[in-house]
Amino acid sequence: MKIILAGYMGSGKSTIGKILSNFVRIPFYDLDEIIEKTEKKSIKSIFNDKGEIYFRKLESQIFNQFISENDNFILALGGGTPCYANNHLILQNDDINSFYLKANVNTLTERLILEKENRPLISNFNKEELNDYIRKHLFDRNHYYLQSKNIITIDNKSIEEIKNE
Ligand code: S3P
Repeated sequence: MKIILAGYMGSGKSTIGKILSNFVRIPFYDLDEIIEKTEKKSIKSIFNDKGEIYFRKLESQIFNQFISENDNFILALGGGTPCYANNHLILQNDDINSFYLKANVNTLTERLILEKENRPLISNFNKEELNDYIRKHLFDRNHYYLQSKNIITIDNKSIEEIKNE
């Protein structure tokens, strides 16, 4: 079984992925963690030292390699993974179950204001700037996330409800 979880930062891809993994007994992987292990650096340091373009190339290469080498997984993508280098096409692969964990701008702002430190794209924003940034960014990215085969709205739902869905 091949399951991919896509969605904006803070949509719960890793949290849901781990819980689902225990429930259905399929191994969980987090693409950001694989990138960090490969580079032996945090995502934040990769952005700081080498810049976003380097990160996007690396992310895309590691994602494609992972998909070609594994056949039983739940994989949580990074928020930007489907939005670069035609990676969104993989969400439509015949043998892949892809899910978009869809959250609205206010849900994401409330969550991300508390967990922005290790996310280089948003770490400098105050709450108002963050809300504004997410509104625009989500508008640009939604098209890619919507290539997922299944869409699960997560606003106001418990982890248990999302896992069951
Ligand atoms: C990013 C999301 C992050 C991480 C990087 C860039 C993005 O992953 O890959 O900071 O472009 O949305 P999470 O969605 O797990 O925070």
